[in-house]
Amino acid sequence: MIRFILNDKKVRTSLPPGSTVLDFVRYQKRLTGTKTGCREGDCGACTVLVGQIKEGKLSYRSMTSCLMPLINAHGRHIVTVEGLNMENLSPVQAAMVETNGTQCGFCTLGFVMSFTGFVLHPEDKSHQKAIEHIDGNICRCTGYKSIERAAAAIVRAVAEKPETDTLSWLVEKGFLPFYFSGIGEKLSDLHVDIQAEMSQGEMPENAGLHIGGGTDLLVQKHARVKASPLTGLLFDEALKGIEKKEGKIWAGASVTVSEFCESPEIQAVFPELKRHVKLVSSTPIRNMATLAGNLVNASPIGDMTVFLLALNAEIELREGDSIRRLMLRDFYKGYKILDKNPEEILSRIIFRVPDPGSHFNFEKVCKRTHLDIASVNSACLLRLDGEGKVAELNLSAGGVFAWPKWLGQSAEFLKGKSLSRENLAAALERVQDEVAPISDARGTAEYKRLLLRQLILTHFQPFIAEADLLELISGAGSSQSGQLAPGPKASD
Ligand SMILES: Cc1cc2nc3c(=O)[nH]c(=O)nc-3n(C[C@H](O)[C@H](O)[C@H](O)COP(=O)(O)OP(=O)(O)OC[C@H]3O[C@@H](n4cnc5c(N)ncnc54)[C@H](O)[C@@H]3O)c2cc1C
Ligand code: FES
Ligand code: FES
Repeated sequence: MIRFILNDKKVRTSLPPGSTVLDFVRYQKRLTGTKTGCREGDCGACTVLVGQIKEGKLSYRSMTSCLMPLINAHGRHIVTVEGLNMENLSPVQAAMVETNGTQCGFCTLGFVMSFTGFVLHPEDKSHQKAIEHIDGNICRCTGYKSIERAAAAIVRAVAEKPETDTLSWLVEKGFLPFYFSGIGEKLSDLHVDIQAEMSQGEMPENAGLHIGGGTDLLVQKHARVKASPLTGLLFDEALKGIEKKEGKIWAGASVTVSEFCESPEIQAVFPELKRHVKLVSSTPIRNMATLAGNLVNASPIGDMTVFLLALNAEIELREGDSIRRLMLRDFYKGYKILDKNPEEILSRIIFRVPDPGSHFNFEKVCKRTHLDIASVNSACLLRLDGEGKVAELNLSAGGVFAWPKWLGQSAEFLKGKSLSRENLAAALERVQDEVAPISDARGTAEYKRLLLRQLILTHFQPFIAEADLLELISGAGSSQSGQLAPGPKASD
């Protein structure tokens, strides 16, 4: 039996744990403000807020209910647009009305939910942050300018928002209905009920398909998820947390992309992290998408996989009491073939904190800048010694092979060498020998080869003289004068 709080009421359901929250609220509870658009996480018309008590505090994240299995609602507070209704419009709703931020209205609830997610975030107050919170919402009518004006009005309304006790302030100022004040207590009661049920052996199915955020599984295998028993891992505390110890970062496998990006430990290591992660999906998807899901899905273009490969990460797999570790680069054995038993759970991701003076970079090119998967992506960790020679280099790339590619041979070639035009040109040729892209909707194989070449050069850009860089970009530094090798045949 799955139990959660839906708006102001406790609910329970014996529907399959893989049914979506979207279908539950629309078809079981007749809360039809939440819209069905794409059902693939792209449009934001189904956005809800998900509340949970974390480190003693009630906090909310926006999520797309079309990709949220009921098992991930278990023990949480789910807020639909109806759950924001009060006698008067909230400042968020009023801003959308007053700036003509709504026309046909189909997308409007999604924007209202995402903007409410923005106001609920204790620290976020700027216009830029407000716009970032709606990066997963699409509107086909307004052209967005009026919605940007709504964002500006909402930002003005939260100018005085305190960082502590934010929720009480929001209730007092009419952003949230009064019942929000009692949700923390209701969630604690709910957890007591859930614990009691668990001690009697009644709990959501705890076997079968492993599911994290569901952002891959519910797009690719919706019917299977609905029909299977599930083990929900998204909120499993044993798979959460990020800590730095023994010179390494230890990240729980169910850490979401948002949690990874917001972690002070991670931000201290990657100053450019926000710029990199902005290219990965959208806020509501990042709020659900786990690191493990990205690694196990084994998409050849998984962004976090390419990111972690360049850190030469290790992964920890658990099955009952048995634990084993392996290098992420050895996890992939073929197209979507992994060194993993179906019962094994990916529990942790471990990587060495880069040495001082190291340069880390992640690049991604897609058909559009945001909310798109990569044509080609690549990451690099580089450290030069006192003489400007390569002391450490890891390179990875996606979209150019049947699985996320560790470019070990090319990196090895450059070790101990200077980043001269000749050395780089020779390394770039080796890169071409290590990859085997295929032509598909994201570009021809030739285009992807060229793209990878330029992305790798971008990693080295801060260390190359401008004249050398221009020659290398034009291909003049290559023995093939810019003509890229045909390379091996695509393997998938
Ligand atoms: C709209 C949209 C945009 C997206 N954009 C991007 C993007 O820009 N870049 C990108 O890389 N991806 C993108 N994705 C894909 C997806 O969000 C990521 O791959 C995400 O990290 C998957 O994580 P998840 O927790 O949702 O995985 P799930 O769907 O829950 O699971 C994926 C796979 O991992 C397995 N699994 C999950 N956790 C574990 C575990 N701990 N142990 C063992 N197996 C496990 C599941 O069984 C399943 O096989 C996008 C998806 C959507 C819907
Ligand atoms: S219906 Fe489009 S994101 Fe859910
Ligand atoms: S108002 Fe019509 S889709 Fe946004």
